[in-house]
Amino acid sequence: MLRDKRIILGVTGGIAAYKAVELLRLLTKADAEVHVIMTRAAQEFVTPLTFQTLSCNPVHTELFNLISEQEIGHISLADRADLFVIAPATANFVGKIANGIADDMLTTTVMATKAPVLISPAMNVNMYTNPVYKENEAKLRALGYAFVAPEKGLLACGWEGDGKLAAPETIFEAVVAALTPQDLKGQTILVTAGPTREEIDPVRYVSNHSSGKMGYALARTASRRGARVILVSGPVRLAAPAGVELVPVESAREMREAVLARVPECTAIIKAAAVADYRPAERRDVKIKKKAETLSLDLVKNPDILAELGALKKRPFLVGFAAETGNLKEFAAKKLREKQADLIVANDVSQADAGFNVETNRALLLFRDGREMECPLMSKDELAGVILNQMAAHLP
Ligand code: CTP
Repeated sequence: MLRDKRIILGVTGGIAAYKAVELLRLLTKADAEVHVIMTRAAQEFVTPLTFQTLSCNPVHTELFNLISEQEIGHISLADRADLFVIAPATANFVGKIANGIADDMLTTTVMATKAPVLISPAMNVNMYTNPVYKENEAKLRALGYAFVAPEKGLLACGWEGDGKLAAPETIFEAVVAALTPQDLKGQTILVTAGPTREEIDPVRYVSNHSSGKMGYALARTASRRGARVILVSGPVRLAAPAGVELVPVESAREMREAVLARVPECTAIIKAAAVADYRPAERRDVKIKKKAETLSLDLVKNPDILAELGALKKRPFLVGFAAETGNLKEFAAKKLREKQADLIVANDVSQADAGFNVETNRALLLFRDGREMECPLMSKDELAGVILNQMAAHLP
């Protein structure tokens, strides 16, 4: 995903420096070429060897190191970078950059670069709320430096409040977004994902095998491309992608309510969820006890959320999915027509490498205007990109 991207990871001297190791892992796993620059104080917390081993590149610590300045000097690093990410960034670092102080390898390189700079601050809450810090941050923001806001929480110094370094996954997502064309900026895309769960009694339910992977890939990819993403998700074992607004639901009726309440905000809705078509006619308040040899359950139809959205007079761009185990095109075309969607993504879930609970998918895209598009086997992230590309042309 970050292949051919050269990222400079600047680490300054705070206790959160150890979390920069995890960020480095995320960046290298995504195939980025990472060069680490550490300040002197950062080396008090984590050794350069750790970053060097994991980045497979020499770590830069000294401005006046003759060998490394000869091999790859600070100006060369600054020129060749696609992006700088500073994590953690101390109040001292932010203050120096805001005031033009370049007195070590990191500050000098940051001052010399024309690449985007992403700053992820971490410090004591009183330092973070100090007007001097705030003024420095505001000055840098106005100059085009981007910030990843710290989180609230218990700080290493014992104080509680803002100042905890953002999670490595959140910083990673900000890096990816900063290197991704923001063609979906201004869009609000609601994605439904996962199965729904229809309760029989307090301990049992009816559901299906949906893992939520396709919906989460769509949410993650749309967010990286700049969209505001609302993820209405049934119960799954996936962490919500950083930056998306998660609305957890259980049943089809809860999902319906969550989706309908947000329609006016949305420019597109993608219904990747595997909504249970039926629910038990009656939910028992107490556990059903084992008695007879057989037990029949009466099921009643759930509302069809996609069809309801399709019937709305004023509605966002609508994408539905068709999970089939045969007659793919015929059934998908019927869903496109009957549910009045703009696009149906049809997949054959009987194949081992597509559909439920796997990382890959192959699909047939059917458009309202009669166009068709075959998508061969690819990762769910890649398919999400293709679907969003197809949608983008139709969005306001
Ligand atoms: N869908 C929905 N509400 C339902 C059932 C399905 O919004 N109660 C949506 C799904 O999210 C998906 C599309 O409709 O985008 C098609 O879902 P699918 O399960 O493939 O088809 P069904 O309409 O349920 O028809 P069938 O089960 O007969 O194939």
